[in-house]
Amino acid sequence: MAQFKIAVVVGSLRKESFNLALAKGLTRLAPSEFSFNMLEIGDLPLYNQDDDANQADAVKRLKADIAASQGVLFVTPEYNRSIPGVLKNALDHASRPYGQSAWAGKPAGVIGASIGSIGSALAQQHLRNILVYLDMPTMGQPEAFIHVKDGLFNDDGSIGAGSKDFLQGWMDQFAAWVKQHA
Ligand code: FNR
Repeated sequence: MAQFKIAVVVGSLRKESFNLALAKGLTRLAPSEFSFNMLEIGDLPLYNQDDDANQADAVKRLKADIAASQGVLFVTPEYNRSIPGVLKNALDHASRPYGQSAWAGKPAGVIGASIGSIGSALAQQHLRNILVYLDMPTMGQPEAFIHVKDGLFNDDGSIGAGSKDFLQGWMDQFAAWVKQHA
């Protein structure tokens, strides 16, 4: 029985997203007492402060899913040296109305993949800035800037041999971080 439910937020809506694949591959490296809920952010409306008093059902669902979790795993690509707009939109929605943020206090992990050689490092750093403000204790180390190359994933979706040990270590640290802060 899973004791630690992790909300997973992927910053790409692309069907064949490498970051979605990375998120799924990572979940297979987690301890048995962890379960993962891939949050839907693609159906959220564009954030509009006028709607704070009457949030859309998709926003209410997002906030409920976060509230039901003991931690949040962010897996994001880099768009133009920052985080994708869909991810910022989700962050903003669940942070409101003022004083009723769903994010506050939830331990977080940040990781991401890119076809570029810096492996989403700048997006992750921008995301970390936001998570500090949202009062999410965020794992500092190990950092993981994943450069997408052939062999990153096996045909069954598991992490390929070249990255498995590193990402296993990352997941072990993330699991320990969540247990420490949950
Ligand atoms: C990119 N990409 C990209 N890569 C990078 O390393 N740094 C960047 O700043 C950008 N900027 C960027 C902007 C936009 C609008 C797109 C669509 C793409 C390339 C990006 O890493 C690549 O498309 C990844 O495959 C996106 O991640 P997913 O969708 O595979 O998870």
